[in-house]
Amino acid sequence: MCGIVGYVGQRSASEVVLGGLARLEYRGYDSAGIAIVVPGNSLVSHKKAGKLSVLRDELEANPLAQGTTGIGHTRWATHGPPTDANAHPHLADGGKLALIHNGIIENFDELKSELQAQGEQFHSDTDSEVAAVMLGRAFHETQDLTLAMRAVVARLEGAFTLLGVHQDQPDVVVGARRNSPLVVGLGQGENFLGSDVAAFVAYTDKAMALGQDQIVTITPDSVTITTFEGDPATAAQFDIDWDASAADKGGWSSFMAKEISEEPEAVANTLRGRISPEGTVTLPDLDSLLDQGGEITRIIFIACGTAAYAAMLGAYAIEKWSGIATTVELSHEFRYRDPAVGPTTLVVSVSQSGETMDTLMAVRYAAEKGAKTLSICNTQGATIPRESDAVLYTHAGPEVAVASTKAFLSQVIAAYLLGLYLGQHNGHISAADSALLAKDFDALPGQLQEMVETGGRIKELAGWMADTRSVLYLGRHVGYPVALEGALKLKELAYIHAEGFAAGELKHGPIALIEPGQIVFVIVPSPRDPSSLHAKVVSNIQEIRARGARVIALAEKGDAAVLPHADEVIALPFASVFMEPLLAVVPLHIFGMELAAAKGLDIDQPRNLAKSVTVE
Ligand code: M6R
Repeated sequence: MCGIVGYVGQRSASEVVLGGLARLEYRGYDSAGIAIVVPGNSLVSHKKAGKLSVLRDELEANPLAQGTTGIGHTRWATHGPPTDANAHPHLADGGKLALIHNGIIENFDELKSELQAQGEQFHSDTDSEVAAVMLGRAFHETQDLTLAMRAVVARLEGAFTLLGVHQDQPDVVVGARRNSPLVVGLGQGENFLGSDVAAFVAYTDKAMALGQDQIVTITPDSVTITTFEGDPATAAQFDIDWDASAADKGGWSSFMAKEISEEPEAVANTLRGRISPEGTVTLPDLDSLLDQGGEITRIIFIACGTAAYAAMLGAYAIEKWSGIATTVELSHEFRYRDPAVGPTTLVVSVSQSGETMDTLMAVRYAAEKGAKTLSICNTQGATIPRESDAVLYTHAGPEVAVASTKAFLSQVIAAYLLGLYLGQHNGHISAADSALLAKDFDALPGQLQEMVETGGRIKELAGWMADTRSVLYLGRHVGYPVALEGALKLKELAYIHAEGFAAGELKHGPIALIEPGQIVFVIVPSPRDPSSLHAKVVSNIQEIRARGARVIALAEKGDAAVLPHADEVIALPFASVFMEPLLAVVPLHIFGMELAAAKGLDIDQPRNLAKSVTVE
């Protein structure tokens, strides 16, 4: 939450910073602001409530003075409403210093009272301004931004990334991080700071992920990292494996539309180089983890939102293919219930951003308890993979729309690969079954492409449902996480009440919700499925149909048993049990997007949300 950019070099800082903010706006869009150090010792700043476009319009009408050092911020409001005054940067030291912040300073109340008692005045409701005032005071004493930052962080509690500039040190940006992300972009004669690499990917493909409790000082020609105590420190350098165009809309009407179109490719990328035609899975990171010894007797997935639904599918597959007991927990529930976790537990976090604070805290908790930790993540250099024992990158490419789509599919694939790997490692899965799955995986990108092409039909459906006030989603077994995912997309994008249910649960209460006209999406298992689930779901359809529901079935092509009972059928290609949910979810992603479009809502930036949830 909140996007942060810092720049020092030879270019126009406002151009670099505003460009970076545009790429980071998915992290928060309640307000935006910028501060530039102007040669000749002055500092200019401008900030506005609302989206970045509001700030841009303002700056077009009243351009800022130019400089080559600057910082910028997009906000997701925590303390204080989204107003101009609460927007960042916050100024201090008589307007000579500017500071931006991502996170929550938990002891800000106490610090604020202390500063007020010493005569300091505040102009916002934010926790962040406290850090600005403290940095201003510390600079006054030390005349050095790095030393001043060290003095400030020593007093802060909570989660923070802070960036500061001061007009008296014109070629310097100082950053600090604890529990919130900060990456460094390495250029030639210029350096960058950002909440993630999207901030500077247009200028460099070399980056460093700052560690926990580190301070970084960038000038055009140097990057210096120290601990909060001032000891020299290092950070891992990495190459960014996507370019700026991957983070552009590329002619699509929204990032979400683009990212749905990339679902087949995302799956292919997650699979690439990891499974042979015979089905043998190669995961070098897992080899190293297992080489450290110790049996894995239990797997716990931790994740939030869409990532948790991906984890559910992964858990079903892992338990089946490896025989290892596997469960899924919401990250924010996990560590508060004193779970029985130990050295034989593998805790697998799933997170697109790799920065979700709830998940990060759960990973740290698991590590403290001695568990092995594996991160399934899409973002290089993010905190969760950096702090985990092993990582399985999904390689889905940047996901900018707040609603997660292609990341979901790639997370499921990564978890499936993990299940197959473990099953092959402990001999639970046969070579013949592995080979069949390899064929299924191979066919998947093409089949997903067929589903992406159902877009026109789904758009029509969404068009006639624009006034709908409630939509239900039903599924059993692997259809259940898909139902949850479909409902979440509708809630977050179209602001419509939507619920996903396990179809077997219907008769235990939710069926009372069914009244004439209620729209219900049903994910129907293949009639070829050897279990009797298909027949059970068809019965569920009849039960709700008898009570007036309008049923939209997602069913295998030619499933004659469903046709008489459904108002609409969206046909799915023939696929095996674990592939079907990946196919069924695509039209539900499209449906969420199209219903939001039909209601005239902002698809990429739904209200109240942010892409990367870096507060607990
Ligand atoms: O970055 P993460 O995968 O950890 O994010 C987890 C959730 O916040 C995220 O999936 C959220 O539920 C999406 N907005 C859903 O579309």
